[in-house]
Parts: sequence; structure tokens; C-alpha cells
Amino acid sequence: MELIHTVAELRKYLRGMPNNVFVPTMGNLHEGHLRLVEEAAPRGACTIVSIFVNRLQFGPKEDFDRYPRTLADDCAKLSSIGCDVVFAPNEAELYPEPQTYTVQPDALEHMLEGASRPGHFRGVATVVLKLFNMVQPHAAVFGKKDYQQCLVLRNMVRQLALPVEIILAETVRAQDGLALSSRNQYLSAAERAEAPRLYRVLQEVRDAVRTGTHAWTTIEAEAMTQLERHGWRADYITVRRRNDLHLPRDDDRELVVLGAARLGVPRLIDNLEMTL
Ligand code: PAF
Repeated sequence: MELIHTVAELRKYLRGMPNNVFVPTMGNLHEGHLRLVEEAAPRGACTIVSIFVNRLQFGPKEDFDRYPRTLADDCAKLSSIGCDVVFAPNEAELYPEPQTYTVQPDALEHMLEGASRPGHFRGVATVVLKLFNMVQPHAAVFGKKDYQQCLVLRNMVRQLALPVEIILAETVRAQDGLALSSRNQYLSAAERAEAPRLYRVLQEVRDAVRTGTHAWTTIEAEAMTQLERHGWRADYITVRRRNDLHLPRDDDRELVVLGAARLGVPRLIDNLEMTL
């Protein structure tokens, strides 16, 4: 496995290799990331993982500075699962000058995660487009845990006619249902024990929606109250259309229930797809 830090080295290494599959990450890799790499590996001759904590997608009060940087550990994990190249640029390599040209996503930018984290998806889309230009993959793998991010990136690729196939991988969960996330490590022991409730609440919402009721606003409000009774501060629990995250119409069948809530300091997100 090669560890590469600059675009020049990366281009040199990849010259004449047309069949690259890419997994962009911010490092601090857990089992969820490793599954993305396993999903990627059989789809191309060369599997490239980027590790870059992208300042552009963090708000001023978010955890950019304390986001764990664990490159040596990450490389050790990746070398044992079929990753060919780790691309770990520093900030000056990715942003040699202030990034004044950015990707402005569509309406998705301002709803749900976008409303809670202004500018987040602009930062994500901009860095992913830039990484795509550097790595020039034919396919890239993202995890459905960040559902809205997946839609933003899928739409970006379609609207800008980027020659990259977007592959979406299922969320990886701990045995108790908690979706794996680098931010889980910020949870205290008591919060970690409480954290799987978010997924249970999403399952309850899904089950209630499947009974055929359309009283979704009531179901969503009850779900948020249940979280709040157990010490959470819920941003949203909401049932949406899968393909654009708009409120569903009566005849929509492909839905997703999404949730975001804070448990102490950490803010957790999760989602669950359903077909009626
Ligand atoms: O999902 C992530 O880890 C990040 O948002 C991504 C896609 C690597 C962009 O920085």
C-alpha cells in the first residue's frame, strides 16, 4: 500500500491507471469506513482512500480542531483490507489559496442537516469535487449513514456530468443498533448506553408509518418527545421522500425516516429507508 501526500505524486502513481475506485474519508477509520473500502475493492484495479479533515465543511463552533487525526492507525487498518493507495494531503495541498470557487448544492443544502449546519454541504461538495479531480476515479463509495450527503453528491455528479459512478453502501451498526460514527467516541459511557435509542425511535416511526396512517407529524413529534424524555435534544425526526428529501405525498412509497439529535455534546444522525 502506498501513502501519498501530494497531488503530483498521486498523478504520477496513477498515470495509465484508468480503473480507480475511490473512498473519500476524514480518517479516524472505524468498521463502517472499512466496509466502504471492501465494497470498493472488487470494483476497480486500484482502490484509493483519501484522508483529509476538511475545514470547509465545519461550522465555526464545530469540532474541526478536535476531530481525531489518526493517520498511522488508519493506514494500519487499510493495509490489511485491500486498499492500494492512501491519499493524505495536508491543508496547503488541498487549499493552496483561499477556496473562493465553491460548489453550491441545490435545495438540499438548506434543509435538515443543511439547516442545522449552514454551509456544511457546500464544503462537502466542494472538497469532493476537488478530490474527484485529483484522483479521477471511475467510481466512488459513500455510506448511507450520511444520507443527505449521498443525495447532495449524487445530484452534483449528475448535474455537473462528472464521469464518476456513485455507489452507496449500507450503514454499519454496532450490535445494539447504534450506527458507527467517528463521533461516537465523544460519548460518555452513560451516553453510549443511551445512544441506540435513536435507531429504536426511527424503527418505531417506520413501523407506525407502515400501519398506513398519514398522521406523520404526530408520529414525528412523539418520537422527538420520547428522545427528549431521555435527555436528548432532538433537531429533527422526519419522514421524507427518498430521492429528494421533500415531504412525501400520499402516493409516495419510497421513503426514509431521518433523525438528528444531541446527546450531551455529541450530535448523532441516523436514518432508515422504507418502502410502503
Ligand atoms: O463523509 C465524510 O467523511 C466527509 O463528508 C467526506 C465525504 C470525506 C468529505 O470531506
